[in-house]
Amino acid sequence: MPEYLPTAPYKGTRDFLPAEMSVRTQVFGHLYDVLERRGFLRYDGPILESAEIYERKSGQEIADKQLYTLTDKGGRRLALRPEMTPSVARMIAGSAKSLSFPVRWYSHPNCHRYEAPQRGRVREHWQINADIFGSDSANCEIEIFELVHDLMAALGATPDMFVLRVNDRNLLTSALTDVAGVSQDHLSQVFALVDRWEKYPREKLAENAAEIGLSDKQFEKLAETLGAGEALLDELPSEVREQSNLVRVLNSSAGSLVKYEPMIVRGLAYYTSTVFEVFDTSPENRRPLFGGGRYADLASMFTPQQIPGIGFGMGDVTLMDFLDTHGLTPAPRNEVDVMVIPVTEDLFDAARSVAASLRTAGLRTSTPIEHRKLGKELTRADKAGAVAVVIVGQEDWAAGTVTVRSLATREQSSVAVADAPAAVQALLA
Ligand code: HAM
Repeated sequence: MPEYLPTAPYKGTRDFLPAEMSVRTQVFGHLYDVLERRGFLRYDGPILESAEIYERKSGQEIADKQLYTLTDKGGRRLALRPEMTPSVARMIAGSAKSLSFPVRWYSHPNCHRYEAPQRGRVREHWQINADIFGSDSANCEIEIFELVHDLMAALGATPDMFVLRVNDRNLLTSALTDVAGVSQDHLSQVFALVDRWEKYPREKLAENAAEIGLSDKQFEKLAETLGAGEALLDELPSEVREQSNLVRVLNSSAGSLVKYEPMIVRGLAYYTSTVFEVFDTSPENRRPLFGGGRYADLASMFTPQQIPGIGFGMGDVTLMDFLDTHGLTPAPRNEVDVMVIPVTEDLFDAARSVAASLRTAGLRTSTPIEHRKLGKELTRADKAGAVAVVIVGQEDWAAGTVTVRSLATREQSSVAVADAPAAVQALLA
C-alpha cells in the first residue's frame, strides 16, 4: 500500500474551495470599493522580509513567540511577515522622495503568526491594511474612523453591531502616573497588565498586580481609574489633553463615531499615541474584530526623515465570524447563468459558437467538456445555478434555431440563433 500524504492543509492554515472563495471575493470586493472611493491606493510586497524589522519595533509577543523565521542559503535571517506595517513603513521610507505626503495606501496581504489555533486565531490570516502616512493632523484620525464605519456599513453592518473603542497611549500614561499614582518604574509592566484587563478575571489581575509590586490599594486605584470612562479625561492635566489628537476628535462632530475607553492599549510596541479597536457587540461574539493606531517613528528604522503613520489591520477570520454572527455573510455566487448543451457530439462546435455570442452579451456561460445525455447535463446546469440552458439540436441547428429552456419553469421555446442572448437575458431579468 502506498502511503498517502494528508489532504488537510498545515495546522492553522486554510484552503478556500470555490464556494468559500466566492463569499470572500464578494466581501473583500465591497471593502476595496470603499477604500478606492476614498482615494486609497493599493500596494503589495514580499511575504519574506528581514527578521530584524519585526525584532526592532513590533514587540516581544511577535518577535519572540510568533515569528516564523528561516535562514536562506546565503545565510540571511528572514521571516514570513506576521503583519504588514513594518513592510509598508519600509516601502514608504524607500519611495519617500517621489511621494507627496500625506498619502493613503491599502493592501491585502496574508500574514503568518505561530499561534495556538483557536476561535479567531490561526497561523495564516489575511489582513486588509489601510494607513495614512506623513501627517500628524487629527484629521487623519477622523478619516480613519470614518473609513472604519464606511467599511462596516458596506458589509451590511449597522452601528449597533459594533463599537469603535479608542484610547491614546499618552493619555493612558498620564492616567496611570498622574491619576492612579503608578511610578515610572512600574509603568511598562502596568501597561502590559492593562492590556490584559478585559481578558483576565479580576482575581488574576490582582495577583499579577501584586507580582509587579503594586499594593492592594494601588490596584484598587488602578481599577477605579480604568473604569472611569470619559470622566477620566477631566482629571488629566490640561497640557496632556491639549497635545492629544484623540481629545480633538472627541471634541469634534466625529466624536460620535467612537467610544473613549481608558483600558485599550493594543499589543504592538510601535504605537505612540492613538490606539483603537473595533469590538463586536453581539453577546455571542463579544471580542475585538480588528484594530490599529498611530505610530510616529516606525519609518525611522529606514530613514532619518520623520514620517508618521496611522492605520489598521482588518483580519479576515474575525471579520467572517462577525458576518456569520450577524447573518451578513453573502451567498456564494452561481457558477454560470447559462449552459449551452449540444445534443450530439458533432454539435460541440456549434454550441461553442452560441456560447461565445452569449458571453459577448455579458452572460456567464459554459459548455460541456464531455458528451453526456441531455438529462444529465440538465441536472449539471441546475447544480451550477444556471437560470437557463440553450439546447443545440441537429434539426434546429440546420434550420438556424436553438431551444432556450428555463430551469425554473421548465418552459422552453425555439428561437433564431441570433436571438438566443436576448431570450436568455429575458429569463434572467
Ligand atoms: P494586530 O492587532 O496585530 O495589528 O492585527 C490586526 C488584526 O489582524 C487583528 O485585529 C485580527 O483581526 C487579525 N489577526 C492578527 N493575528 C491574527 C491571527 N493569528 N489569526 C487571525 N487573525 C489575526 C497589526 O497587525 C497592525 N500591523 C495593524 C496596523 C496597520 N496598525 C497600523 N496599521
